[in-house]
Formats: sequence, structure tokens, C-alpha cells
Amino acid sequence: MEIEISNINSCSIFRHNKVGSIKKTDIKMCVSNIFNKNCSDMLGWLDLPDIDSEQIEDILQFAKSIKKRFKNFVVLGIGGSALGVKMLKYAFFDSINKKEKIKTFVLDNIDGDYFVSLLNSLDLKKTAFNIITKSGTTCETITQMSIVLNLLKKKKISVQKNLFVTTSKGNSLYDYANNLGLKTFIIPQDVGGRFSVLSPVGLVPASIMGIDIVQLLNGAKNIRENAKSSSSNLAYISAHICSVALNNGLTNIVFMPYSQRLKLVSEYFAQLWAESLGKRYNRQGREVFTGQTPIKALGVTDQHSQLQLYSEGRNDKLFVFLKVKSSSFDITASDNIPFMLEIKNISLSKLLNNEFDSTRLSLAKLDRPSFAVFLDSVDEFNMGELIFYLQTMTAFMGEMLNINAYDQNGVEQSKLYTKASLGFEGLEKQKNELEKFRKNQKFLQF
Ligand code: PA5
Repeated sequence: MEIEISNINSCSIFRHNKVGSIKKTDIKMCVSNIFNKNCSDMLGWLDLPDIDSEQIEDILQFAKSIKKRFKNFVVLGIGGSALGVKMLKYAFFDSINKKEKIKTFVLDNIDGDYFVSLLNSLDLKKTAFNIITKSGTTCETITQMSIVLNLLKKKKISVQKNLFVTTSKGNSLYDYANNLGLKTFIIPQDVGGRFSVLSPVGLVPASIMGIDIVQLLNGAKNIRENAKSSSSNLAYISAHICSVALNNGLTNIVFMPYSQRLKLVSEYFAQLWAESLGKRYNRQGREVFTGQTPIKALGVTDQHSQLQLYSEGRNDKLFVFLKVKSSSFDITASDNIPFMLEIKNISLSKLLNNEFDSTRLSLAKLDRPSFAVFLDSVDEFNMGELIFYLQTMTAFMGEMLNINAYDQNGVEQSKLYTKASLGFEGLEKQKNELEKFRKNQKFLQF
């Protein structure tokens, strides 16, 4: 993996913050805060690549038995319990029409049209379900589980054979699953949802889909070494660029892979960046209302949709491009098109590359900073590197912003109202507020 930063130092806001002038002492302090786990007790994700061989063997054997017994595999989870798996599925299968070892679905929404129509289309006897929730109390996931349990029971299908659970030890779901005799996989307490893709949350589904999880972890280990170093530390340099950009008014970050296979990396990154860094208070409890809004884009597609705004709209965005050096497939335009002879003999990869450079240059000329992350190819090792790079970049940015990157108080209020609406105890005040809100809604009709 490498990053290309020539456009950064030439942009005006970086004139006094050149990447080359980052102090080694600053890097060392930040690295030490993270890797010595001084700044948070939620840094267990740093150790996930070292998972022991016994656990790997357990996952591989389990995946093998699932693949042997079932035709379909459904993941029920949301947020950090789903996005990593979705990203991997899209990168290795959906985008290049390669068949997973078993047809896999990630249901991270509770929309009835989506949920019911999928379940209706599956032979449930031949379908394995993986409930993934660290807390074990996420309304959406537990509701999905309740629906599926009931369906399986009605159809006299063994829940013990068709359903397994990934959660953390000691919560109510863990106890419930054990009482039912379900297989469980454990999420370590000190690993938060959005940092959990290299735990059983991502490793079990990945292995079932046919992804080489050992290579995924090897890639993560490789970039972890780089993230500990005080020179050419890619994640630190990237976070530094993002923090200078934010401090100079670039409150948005456009994440734009020039690779269809990496399209959902934008969704994965958006959650990491938004939920980790969008914070009201800093570590000293002072109101800071910080964060940088992630914008999901795709090259070249969005050149014909959003680039106009990126070029001539408000100059409040930093651009992060993602590019793969070699694609799995390529093809050349070999027919003569009489009114555009110039395209003859151009391969798709060459055209994509030309457009990639053209877009970066056009933004640079407008003083709009960008940097590019390059992967050698889309394989397990490189995906492992990319995942760990994005996680450490987020962690470093959290340090630079002096906030807790591992909590998510901002989503709690909505969760409380939802639980209040369901009649959970102790939430009468929230229930009343919600009822009043609903009563006072005004609809304009025509
Ligand atoms: O990153 C996070 O912590 C969240 O996005 C969670 O993953 C999400 O809310 C789902 O939580 P849980 O895994 O407890 O169901």
C-alpha cells in the first residue's frame, strides 16, 4: 500500500503545514498513546490480527460445516456489526460476479419490503443465520432474530442447527443463546462495533463466503507495523492531512474509490469517520462540536454527478482517492468508431487511470487538496492492509482532535426514544416526549 501526496503541499492551506515538516516527536507521542493503550480502554482492535491459531481453526472448521450443510447464509446485524461484512462481500463477489461458497445476504435494515421479500425467497431449511450484535440489545437485530426464530420454529426447523450468534460474553443475549444451545462466537469487550471486522464479527462470515481470513489478518499485521513507526507512517500522515484540512475549514471529506470492487469501502469508512470523530465534547469536557463529514463517492461514476459541485461549489472538502494498481479483468476498445477514432485501442484500465489523474489535476488547479491511497490489487492481504490503515488513521485523527473516538453518545438519544416507544421500563419521560412530538406534527397536503 502507498499514498500519493504531491497535491497536498501545493495547496494553499498546506503551505505552512507541509507534510514533510511533521515532527517525529509528535508522531511518536500519538503512536505511543494508541499502541500503549494510554488513551482508551477500547483499543482491543489493535490486537485482533494476533488471534490465536486455535480460534482460527475453530472458525475455519465451523465455516466448512456451514458451507457443507447450507445453500444460503444470512447475516443479521447493523452498523459495525454489518458494514465490514458488506464491504468484503461486495469486494470479493458481488462486483465481479464471482460466486460466494454459499449465497450470502447481509440484512442491515428492518424495512419490511426488503426483509420479508428476502426471507420469502429462501428455502429456510437450507439457510444459516448469523445474529451479530456486540451489545446484544440492539432493537433492530433482536427484532430480526425474534422473527427468524419464530419462522424456524413454525417450520419445525432446528434453531440449533440453523442459527448461531456472535456477541460479547456475559450479556443477556449470550446467556439466552447458551440456554438455547446455540453456537456462539465472542466479540472481545474492548473492541467497539466499527472496529470489529477483524474479530469473529467479520472473520466468521468472511470464512463462510470463502475469503482467506489468514491473509486478511496478515495484511492487517503488515500495516500495523507501519502504523507504529515514526517515519513514513501512512495512517499518521493521512490523519495529519485530514486534521490540517479540518482546522482550515475543510469540514467535509470526500472518499472516492476509483474501483467498483472497493465501492463499499466508502460506506465502511463513512461510519468509522463519522461515528468516531463527530463529537460534542473533547477529552476535557469542553464543547467542541468537532468532526468531518464523510461523503461517499465513486470514480469514475460520480465525475458525471458530483464533480461539478466538488470543483465549483464551496471549497470545504478534502478528497481521498483510492486506486487499485492492477485490476482482475481488463478489455480493450478495438472496434473503429468513426466519429471518435481516438478511443481505438484504449483499455478500460487505461481510460480509468487517465480519468483518475485528470480529475486529481483539475481539482489541484482549483486549489482543492487531495491525496490518493494505492493498493496493489484487491486481494485478501491488501484488504487487510486497507482495513487496518483506515482504523489507525481514524484513531490517530481522534488523538489529534483530542476526543474519545470510541464512544457514540450522539446515537443514544434516538435509541432511548425507540426503546421508550416499545414500552421499556424507566423511559416514561421519553415516551411522553415522543407522543407529544407525534401529536404536534403538521402535514401539508395537496
Ligand atoms: O460502531 C458501533 O459501535 C455501532 O455502529 C454498532 O456497531 C451498532 O450500533 C450495532 O451495535 P451492536 O453490535 O451492539 O448491535
